[in-house]
Amino acid sequence: MVIVIDFGSQYSQLIARRVRECRVYCQIEPPAVAIDTIRSLNPEGIILSGGPASIYEKNSPKIDPAVFDLGIPVLGICYGMQFMIDTLGGKVEKSAKREYGFAELAIKTPAALFDGIEQKTACWMSHGDSIVELPSDFFVTASTDNTDFAAVAAPRQKLYGLQFHPEVHHTRKGKQILKNFLVNICACKQNWTMKAFAKEAISRIQTSVGDKKVILGLSGGVDSSVTALLIHKAIGKNLTCIFVDNGLLRLNEADRVKKLLKQHLAINIRFVNAGKQFLSALENVTDPEKKRKIVGKIFMEIFEAEAKKIEGAAFLAQGTLYPDVIESRSAFGGPTSIIKSHHNVGGLPKKMKLKLVEPLQFLFKDEVRKLGKTIGLPEELVWRQPFPGPGLAIRIVGEINRRRLSILRKVDAILMEEVKASGYYKRLWQSFAVLLPIKSVGVMGDKRTYENIVAIRAVESKDAMTADWARLPYKLLGQISNRIINEVGGVNRVAYDISSKPPGTIEWE
Ligand code: XMP
Repeated sequence: MVIVIDFGSQYSQLIARRVRECRVYCQIEPPAVAIDTIRSLNPEGIILSGGPASIYEKNSPKIDPAVFDLGIPVLGICYGMQFMIDTLGGKVEKSAKREYGFAELAIKTPAALFDGIEQKTACWMSHGDSIVELPSDFFVTASTDNTDFAAVAAPRQKLYGLQFHPEVHHTRKGKQILKNFLVNICACKQNWTMKAFAKEAISRIQTSVGDKKVILGLSGGVDSSVTALLIHKAIGKNLTCIFVDNGLLRLNEADRVKKLLKQHLAINIRFVNAGKQFLSALENVTDPEKKRKIVGKIFMEIFEAEAKKIEGAAFLAQGTLYPDVIESRSAFGGPTSIIKSHHNVGGLPKKMKLKLVEPLQFLFKDEVRKLGKTIGLPEELVWRQPFPGPGLAIRIVGEINRRRLSILRKVDAILMEEVKASGYYKRLWQSFAVLLPIKSVGVMGDKRTYENIVAIRAVESKDAMTADWARLPYKLLGQISNRIINEVGGVNRVAYDISSKPPGTIEWE
């Protein structure tokens, strides 16, 4: 495995993804990581990311300099390289000219890192500081017009530095450069596969859980379904899943998910029908945050009551993914760690004193889908678009009642049918409808109508942190709009949401 030290770069996750694309497992760690932790992880290589700080700033992030004495190859990228050079006796200064965007890289020493790459190649720069003097063992391996020290190396110590960003796709041979580092310099084996990951994850769950019982809130979404199946493979009937129908699900969703789960996952699942409870608590509530809090609180109460019925439950499993972990920096600590507050089930775990099992905590969403496929999760579950915990409550802007729920369900069902039929479903991060709290005037069959408006939202995204509205074909949008207005009573207008995230969020509430 390889460790990526995150100095705060917007590209740290990208570095991790690129390394994994080379079939080498890697983990992101903060600069404060103890040198003993690094040793115990036994990495074959270490990559120091870029970052927004300048090396000469007082509080710039630093890693223990002993990292350069471990005999493990280190690749410093941008700030990571400047940190390495500064620490080892070189000099970094503010450049006379900042450099952003494309630059032509002229390679002087093709060995190892630039193996198989033409002498001149496009690279992507983004820096205001530059090296002005190298430590004695280092020499320049590539430069650009603006930057003499675009790539440096001290091969005897296995230390390498790049001023440009090999992880972004604008650096044309960036992936090859990273692969060269991993294979030529670190001697990584490129044998990290989902099959290997699944095997290891299952054995880790077995070791940490032993013969204790685990409970899991199963929503039928890809993350909780993969978590369930993986844990089931590890501990069988000692896993109990709880599926709460909150009355805020889509048309026939509870039944469909129930059927799917029962049919394909021979897992112990308790189904709880609690729609009435949720809907009566949401009566007359229009504030989005209040809605979220009410749904969260009731879910918690129901989940806790159900969990209490499971004697000897010692662990709570959650489908937390890597982006959440990296963001909160809280979940690191191995497959089981003490409960934190940011998780889907709110304050529940703390009260219940359960330990956490988060087998997906080092995976990105697309990797979770791959893992699901590898361990035999049915396609329909693997490819489900995300659906928020508070469900349709946060897609009905304003008041929630049975009539409005029924309208939105019908609209959403048509949208889903059309998106699936068009082949767009898998390509979209999410596609859904929102019922607005305003009405508009229309004309139908020579008669004036005064009915509801629905908005359609379809976005493309990698991890929901950022998203772009999908450029769906007009023909498809037209078909969706026609069908909704013709088939759903109470709707006379359809709008398409063309906002990206940021500044919009994906959900409307
Ligand atoms: P936003 O609206 O913040 O959503 O851009 C980002 C992603 O998170 C989903 N989402 C939720 N998922 N519980 C969930 O499990 C929630 O309360 C929740 N709120 C938003 C949303 O659907 C999108 O994929």
